[in-house]
Amino acid sequence: MLFRRETKNYYDLHLHILPGMDDGARDLKMSAGMLQEEIRQGCKGLVATPHYYPTESIASFLERRQRAYEKLEGYVVENIPEWEGRIGLGAEAAWHNGLVYDPDLEKLCMGHSRYLLLEMPFERWSASVLRDVRTIISYGIRPIIAHLERFPEFAGEDAIEELLELDVLIQMNTGALLHRNTHRRALTMVKNGITQVLGTDSHNLEDRRPNMKDGLDALQKAHLGRAADEILDNNANIYHAAV
Ligand SMILES: [Fe+2]
Repeated sequence: MLFRRETKNYYDLHLHILPGMDDGARDLKMSAGMLQEEIRQGCKGLVATPHYYPTESIASFLERRQRAYEKLEGYVVENIPEWEGRIGLGAEAAWHNGLVYDPDLEKLCMGHSRYLLLEMPFERWSASVLRDVRTIISYGIRPIIAHLERFPEFAGEDAIEELLELDVLIQMNTGALLHRNTHRRALTMVKNGITQVLGTDSHNLEDRRPNMKDGLDALQKAHLGRAADEILDNNANIYHAAV
């Protein structure tokens, strides 16, 4: 069958689009540019996931996030009214000692949902990391493990295996499907069913720009179009639970 380029609709569940919030969009102009680019590629809705680090309280993070969101939503209402209410709010919560004991943890979940985008540590995972993932699950929260493809060299194979046995969802960055050094491993992960969610993890309009369409094209080209459709269905279901 010939490879056919088509634009698929999608929901992006991992990106740093809120203006001035983290190392993503630095101002409203860049946020707006990223949003326009997402829409051009077929995006129908998104959950903004700014980094949450324990350098501040969750309450202060949520206040900053709300202010940044209002700026972007104001732009949307003014310029892209059909997008009003299509930006959900979440966080990319960095694992750290004590995260699971923070009484505000569930406020980092995506919108109204019980999905939490969790960034694992970029160092060898201690036993407490996996224990904490289990604790989060015991709260009735479903962790979505952010860009697992970036972790094998840090976590260790055994830890990854153990994680995959838990009730978690695995998110892959579309960029992993595109870069020379990572695309083979990424395609194998999708082929083996180790990816349930796709996100662009876009930060700007330069080196980390929205690239969902290219990622989906790469899956199509590798005859993984059906797997891509299943992942996009998961993305849609999570988005609709959240927003
Ligand atoms: Fe991210």
